Amino acid sequence: LDKKVKQNNWEEGNFINYKKMSENLAIVRSRLNRPLAYAEKILYSHLDDPHGQEIERGVSYLRLRPDRVACQDATAQMAILQFMSAGMPSVANPTTVHCDHLIEAQQGGEKDLARAVGINKEVYDFLASACAKYNIGFWKPGSGIIHQILLENYAFPGGLLIGTDSHTPNAGGLGMAAIGVGGADAVDVMANLPWELKAPKVIGVKLTGSLSGWTSPKDIILKVAGILTVKGGTGAIVEYFGPGVDSLSATGMGTICNMGAEIGATTSLFPFNDRMYDYLKATKRTEIGDFARSYAKELRQDDGAEYDQLIEINLSELEPHINGPFTPDLATPISKFAEAAKANNWPDEVKVGLIGSCTNSSYEDMSRAASIARDALNHGIKSKALFTVTPGSEQIRATIARDGQLQTFEEFGGVVLANACGPCIGQWDRQDVKKGEANSIISSYNRNFTGRNDGNPATHSFVTSPDLVVAMSIAGSLSFNPLTDTLKDKDGKDFKLSPPTGNGLPERGYDPGQDTYQAPPKDRANVTVQVSPTSDRLQLLSPFNAWDGKDATDMPILIKAQGKTTTDHISMAGPWLKYRGHLDNISNNMLIGAINAANGEANKIKNFTTGEWDAVPAVARDYKAKGIRWVVIGDWNYGEGSSREHAALEPRHLGGLAIITRSFARIHETNLKKQGMLPLTFSDPADYDRINPDDKVDILCTELAVGKPITLRVKPANGEAFEIPLSHTFNEAQIEWFKNGSALNTMAKKAKN
Ligand code: F3S
Repeated sequence: LDKKVKQNNWEEGNFINYKKMSENLAIVRSRLNRPLAYAEKILYSHLDDPHGQEIERGVSYLRLRPDRVACQDATAQMAILQFMSAGMPSVANPTTVHCDHLIEAQQGGEKDLARAVGINKEVYDFLASACAKYNIGFWKPGSGIIHQILLENYAFPGGLLIGTDSHTPNAGGLGMAAIGVGGADAVDVMANLPWELKAPKVIGVKLTGSLSGWTSPKDIILKVAGILTVKGGTGAIVEYFGPGVDSLSATGMGTICNMGAEIGATTSLFPFNDRMYDYLKATKRTEIGDFARSYAKELRQDDGAEYDQLIEINLSELEPHINGPFTPDLATPISKFAEAAKANNWPDEVKVGLIGSCTNSSYEDMSRAASIARDALNHGIKSKALFTVTPGSEQIRATIARDGQLQTFEEFGGVVLANACGPCIGQWDRQDVKKGEANSIISSYNRNFTGRNDGNPATHSFVTSPDLVVAMSIAGSLSFNPLTDTLKDKDGKDFKLSPPTGNGLPERGYDPGQDTYQAPPKDRANVTVQVSPTSDRLQLLSPFNAWDGKDATDMPILIKAQGKTTTDHISMAGPWLKYRGHLDNISNNMLIGAINAANGEANKIKNFTTGEWDAVPAVARDYKAKGIRWVVIGDWNYGEGSSREHAALEPRHLGGLAIITRSFARIHETNLKKQGMLPLTFSDPADYDRINPDDKVDILCTELAVGKPITLRVKPANGEAFEIPLSHTFNEAQIEWFKNGSALNTMAKKAKN
């Protein structure tokens, strides 16, 4: 295990550290003294402190040291801006950025890419220059979808990766624990803070039998989603094992792990096996495959490993499934699907079939799909539905162009779109139906929530394997079952489609296609990060001010929020996402969804300096301009929802000091601490009711100490002042964040010393 094996073929100096991992694991084993699941082995072998860390599944918070970070271009903007504000010369851990989310599908690959490069120029220029400056690998627009690129280049068995995208678990197809996170977590790892994760539970899925015919790896996760539902994986890692694993290709395993995000799982993964070795070899990483073989004993679960829940699936009996509409866990086997479509009045005509996306765009997926399309062409027919293909990477596109599948799709009537997310994330200029018109589309993607693909709430979006997408597109009907039903050939004669066939890996090897990677230059000192001062999409961040060392007095309550206040109420998504790289502009959505306890209305609060009612961001800006710090009073579970870091950055940016609530959603609470805010809770939740929106408050910040309450002095407009104890969860390190102004300021200070 002493060997120096590089993590990938792109970077020098970043090695796979099986030796350290095995040492950490030995320490944890001697403490826990029980067989471990594979997921546990990966996590525990990446502990910051294997000796001292408390480990209880579903209870403890693990402090981890991931091997890598990956960001897509939408979430990378704020992550990198924050990282820059720390003033460190380069990222502390290997990081890559992938341009895949901002390319709109309209006319086809080349034209769409050229248009996107124009529209998003300032974002791409910023990301490219920031990556060059801070030693980050940059994958240009056109390179492909983040998760496909990670699988092809960066994933390795036993590794721990965090990525700022929900489908990061795709790398589980190569036995990596790959976890989707918010931007704030990515920044921590870039800046060398340990990364915190609640020790996940582990759900075991035992696969027996083997796949054949029309059934594909996608059907395994479609079935699992049906069993566990969209909430069933929350707080858990799904770990697959059993003899059925060997009938799956590495990319097929990737598909299964990818869509595990739809059941809320922390991640999903497969144990290291020969199919992974074959894939590593095919992607020019034989040395990694050999190294993994030498550590293979720890790249799988121990005998007798215990699972919090166990599911068994016999692949020999598994039917192809179609899930949806509107939710990915409504799973229907193909034999029942026509019936279900009728019973539920789903529009029978298939308007569009879409294959590809990060979920299903491997060489195997494309080959099998092309074999069905070719079968139809041989019978003189084409796709009845509109048909699109999003190759997962430039390498896949170039390889299927060389080997003929791409031409088959075009002959079949398909449009080959850019190597990017496209319609999967709503980047789709759909023209064939009007908004509001009920219609059905079927894709090999993973998510099918209302309006996701085309912004039309009446679109019934179904997810299935690429194989079934092609078959249903040929028939143009949801009631078609390719296993039993016939089609008419060009002469009106009945025929049945043959089950799909296709190679897992290209016989002639992969064709890398165009070079779409920008390595960071050796000399990075002179690189200037490009941000136009007039941009409305990007803005450099300045470090937040350090604490002035004093108690804060006479602060107004900006808003006393009542009831549910999610991160969406605090920082709304939708059209605001355009400004995710511009903190000042996006701050115009701060708390506009929160309900004011004073009047029961959203986005209408009183400015105490003028007596006028105004929008929340406007009042906050006015206070800030007048040098007045403010607080927010919140209700139960304040900040639940997505981990959006903007929800913590905005109040800090607009001059907030503290958020005082009955309780917090934990991630938001931590995010606030990271930005140098004080998340505090009423020691007695009933005290929430004693606060009036017009009151002024003092917070005795000088009292802040681990495990001790801190005093809130409430000064009602008419009446006696009174004191309320507030609780908090700051530890020593986090108190330093508050004192220095933020976690990043703290890291920057350390880096300088
Ligand atoms: Fe992109 Fe859709 Fe995957 S948005 S990352 S292709 S889930």
